[in-house]
Amino acid sequence: MQSPMLFISTFVVLLSISLTNSVPIQETFNSCLKLQSQIPNQFPSAVYTPNNSSFTSVLESTANNLRYLLPSVPKPEFIFTPFHDSQVQSAVVCAKQLGIHMRIRSGGHDYEGLSYVSLIEKPFMILDLAKLRDIDVNIAQNAAWIQAGATIGEVYYRISEKSATHGYPAGLCTSLGIGGHITGGAYGSMMRKYGLGADNVLDAKIVDANGRILDRKAMGEDLFWAIRGGGGGSFGVILWWKIQLVHVPQIVTVFRVTKTLEQGANKVLYRWQKVAPNIDENLFIRVLIQTSNESVSGHRTVTTSYNAQFLGSANRLIKVMKQSFPELGLKRKDVLETSWINSVLYIAGYPNGTKPEILLQGKPTMKVYYKAKSDFVRKVIPEKSLNSLWKKFLQDDGPLMIWNPYGGKMSKISESATPFPHRKGTLYKVQYVSGWIDGEKSMAKHMDWMRKFYNYMGPYVSKNPRETYVNYRDLDIGMNLKNSTSFSNAWSFGYKYFKGNFVRLVKVKSKVDPSNFFRHEQSIPPLPKGSKG
Ligand SMILES: Cc1cc2nc3c(=O)[nH]c(=O)nc-3n(C[C@H](O)[C@H](O)[C@H](O)COP(=O)(O)OP(=O)(O)OC[C@H]3O[C@@H](n4cnc5c(N)ncnc54)[C@H](O)[C@@H]3O)c2cc1C
Ligand SMILES: *[C@@H]1O[C@H](CO)[C@@H](O)[C@H](O)[C@H]1NC(C)=O
Ligand SMILES: *[C@@H]1O[C@H](CO)[C@@H](O)[C@H](O)[C@H]1NC(C)=O
Ligand SMILES: *[C@@H]1O[C@H](CO)[C@@H](O)[C@H](O)[C@H]1NC(C)=O
Ligand SMILES: *[C@@H]1O[C@H](CO)[C@@H](O)[C@H](O)[C@H]1NC(C)=O
Ligand SMILES: *[C@@H]1O[C@H](CO)[C@@H](O)[C@H](O)[C@H]1NC(C)=O
Repeated sequence: MQSPMLFISTFVVLLSISLTNSVPIQETFNSCLKLQSQIPNQFPSAVYTPNNSSFTSVLESTANNLRYLLPSVPKPEFIFTPFHDSQVQSAVVCAKQLGIHMRIRSGGHDYEGLSYVSLIEKPFMILDLAKLRDIDVNIAQNAAWIQAGATIGEVYYRISEKSATHGYPAGLCTSLGIGGHITGGAYGSMMRKYGLGADNVLDAKIVDANGRILDRKAMGEDLFWAIRGGGGGSFGVILWWKIQLVHVPQIVTVFRVTKTLEQGANKVLYRWQKVAPNIDENLFIRVLIQTSNESVSGHRTVTTSYNAQFLGSANRLIKVMKQSFPELGLKRKDVLETSWINSVLYIAGYPNGTKPEILLQGKPTMKVYYKAKSDFVRKVIPEKSLNSLWKKFLQDDGPLMIWNPYGGKMSKISESATPFPHRKGTLYKVQYVSGWIDGEKSMAKHMDWMRKFYNYMGPYVSKNPRETYVNYRDLDIGMNLKNSTSFSNAWSFGYKYFKGNFVRLVKVKSKVDPSNFFRHEQSIPPLPKGSKG
């Protein structure tokens, strides 16, 4: 797993001196890579330029938000897909020397496409880690080394292949790339029992701005802290995570129960806000809120779907629900006992009976154009306020809200243990999504609705700052500009994503990447030169 040592050669310097404008940048990059390589031709790699017939399919392969593939959106000069860790080192060294801006992509699920689009710099290239997806599960050690380009679904599959009683507490959507996912936190259905993916990391390997590979010991505890929640694309290229596995029972129970407004959704949802963050920490009940046509009258209504995973048997679950949440009226026939890996598929929305092997395809269940945002709720929203909320909600034709309960282990980890600060006192997180399929046509309408709805929600959610999940990237809340004078802008989004931890993130950044090689619209900025940390 350890890559051969790479010597940052003086060739690169010579090469960049001889650079002329007439040579296409991808050719210069290619020559640089060749010079960098200690072991020529031993590992293949690929550079895709726009005149290569595979360019578009490679670009689009993992790009999750179709909004960032529209023709009007800037495209990379080329895409480099390494097949070996050492080629990532070379890519960093070469991009730095040649002055080409680099975007890093693992699973491509960034909400604002930051891993494959730069709105602020030209030219830019993509370092696409899709071919680096090894997973080495060691049950005896209760750990696994997993490579950045692997999806979280593949990780779950490889764990379950070796043990029915081990798991890992990360995302619900199985096509997320672990390179971007874990570095922003990574929550999922076991968060109330075990915390985040980032809370269960033992070690990592990262390529720094000088092209060196650093493990936890070599990078030191400050940088190791920063990459476990500080968000992707600011500190280096994560190559590997060493994750800590957690115990899961042989039998896991799941259910999905839906209530429309006509079926009393409001009362149940009001109650859920009080119950879900305080209930048995083996139980995670999230609510998917959408609209549908009511079956009897045909008019449009709001549906609330309670989607749950319980780390235990059906009988125990029924007992817990009777005691704490009788309002939902859960019956034995509503629940399904299954294995942990099948519960992963269930909660990700795969049809009943889907085989776990589907996870090896690493594909999302669907792709749409969308805009999303997030909030954290610390005070129960009154029942009567829910009614007026639905009026606004029904104004969009493709709205979705997901309410995710916190509490349990999440409340026991201190706000500064990792950069992820949304801990004690958070009842639940709200995610808002507006999705559409007709491209540019209805885009303005949906974007507009989303922003208005977010404003409308202001009084009900966290304040000072209005907290936001960094993995639900939202460019509306502030952007770094191209140059280092953008520091004051960064404070606006930095405080929302990280609260007080933002200060420490800036200090770490200033130390490990003072020239700001790893940057994007919302990366952590280094302190401006000359200022004191
Ligand atoms: C459909 C969907 C469902 C989701 N569900 C969940 C969920 O259940 N739980 C949850 O916590 N989050 C969820 N998310 C959010 C998800 O965690 C983030 O979008 C995450 O950043 C995705 O990681 P990625 O590697 O797929 O993304 P990418 O787009 O590849 O990367 C995201 C960011 O990290 C950077 N980055 C990527 N790879 C690396 C690397 N190797 N080293 C350094 N920086 C890197 C990128 O440059 C970019 O800035 C979901 C997102 C989507 C679209
Ligand atoms: C496209 O690029 C790939 C990777 O470098 C290469 O293998 C392939 O031959 C190229 N195809 C064309 C048509 O240029
Ligand atoms: C297009 O392809 C040709 C040969 O395949 C290559 O020489 C040239 O540099 C490429 N041009 C661009 C802009 O990528
Ligand atoms: C709901 O009804 C409207 C109008 O009758 C129709 O256009 C729409 O397609 C229906 N939606 C669904 C999800 O059935
Ligand atoms: C799922 O499928 C299993 C086996 O085919 C069946 O017993 C079970 O009732 C189904 N559950 C649901 C919720 O559809
Ligand atoms: C840097 O950003 C500042 C503030 O946004 C702007 O005024 C200035 O023109 C920028 N400088 C360059 C060189 O782009």
